[in-house]
Amino acid sequence: MTDHELDALAALRHHWLQAGGAYPGGDAARSAHRDTLVDLVKYGFVRVFRHTDHSLGAAVLTRHEPQSQAYCAPLTTLMAHHDNSMQAIDWLGSTLCADVPGLADDVECMVPAADTTTLTLLKKAGLGPNTVSLAGRVDLALERLVARWNPPADLHHLGLSLERVRPADADAIIALQARVFGEEPAYAWFMVHKGWQQRRRDEILRGEIPDLSLIIRVRGEVSGLIEGRVRDRDVHHGSSVGIGLVLDPELRGKGIALVGYRRCLELARARGAIWIKGTTGRRSVLHMAELMGRRATGVIMRRWPRFDDGRFEETLGEARQVSPHPPAQAPSPPGS
Ligand SMILES: CC(C)(COP(=O)(O)OP(=O)(O)OC[C@H]1O[C@@H](n2cnc3c(N)ncnc32)[C@H](O)[C@@H]1OP(=O)(O)O)[C@@H](O)C(=O)NCCC(=O)NCCS
Repeated sequence: MTDHELDALAALRHHWLQAGGAYPGGDAARSAHRDTLVDLVKYGFVRVFRHTDHSLGAAVLTRHEPQSQAYCAPLTTLMAHHDNSMQAIDWLGSTLCADVPGLADDVECMVPAADTTTLTLLKKAGLGPNTVSLAGRVDLALERLVARWNPPADLHHLGLSLERVRPADADAIIALQARVFGEEPAYAWFMVHKGWQQRRRDEILRGEIPDLSLIIRVRGEVSGLIEGRVRDRDVHHGSSVGIGLVLDPELRGKGIALVGYRRCLELARARGAIWIKGTTGRRSVLHMAELMGRRATGVIMRRWPRFDDGRFEETLGEARQVSPHPPAQAPSPPGS
């Protein structure tokens, strides 16, 4: 793959992400996509479709890592993009149907939510949606949260308190995540892996704790975690906050997630974060995200775990409506 084709492919990925309507992107984002592609080309396997004028029409890249950086677990990354031309889509469909069945069970492909063609082709090739990434504006999310639920700022009404996370809580936090996701691994399969747990534990022990994180204790035990992380410089969104929630079953259904969102969103807004973003397969989180004005940006497609019960349809329908237009053709190589 030439340098020019790498630029064209990074531009295609960027285009499809922007088409969902909740991805500002920009030069730094394009350059980050290109870096990812360079790694995939260097360590993986590449197939390219070129039009008769030699411009790039589609590409499929795969890379297997026995211990991925993202999850500390085995991962086969698949990337598939097309320029929306019929020839490129035909090629992509037959290439995915031929190649995907032979990939390891840990295969994962992040598809921009607006690219319904690739989502359909991957389904035909045997993958299904595991999680959806959603992004929205912090100020809008707060406004909608308060207008609909008006959650209190703390948990005093439940006789509970929100405490700052300390390094000494490392084991209890890992135990909570292992307990909750051990029961339902489909919602965070990697958190059940020893490698991921070990890395997370070491990070907390070293004091690498997301800045807005809080725990809830019940009878002295850590039973809830609200993990808010502000990224002052986010290449994809400028600045953002991510909010992860894990509650033991006895704490669910009491509005605690809403209190957690309020607390983190207010602090994030005060810190200047513009976007809230995160990834989920949980129906209640999708429901809250949508009501807070977040939109789908990407879909993680996997062979396992996956949810084929249509839970993402409404969320993805909205991403489709934002940009019905095909992408501009990827730039052609000079002189072609
Ligand atoms: C996700 C989690 C934090 C939600 O916390 P919670 O405080 O118990 O949330 P609730 O159950 O009160 O639900 C919040 C909202 O979602 C709605 N909801 C709950 N279950 C739903 C479902 N199956 N489908 C649609 N909406 C649902 C609730 O009705 C409520 O909205 P409403 O007030 O408009 O009616 C909690 O379920 C949890 O910790 N789960 C395990 C860990 C996990 O999966 N974390 C998320 C990983 S992305």
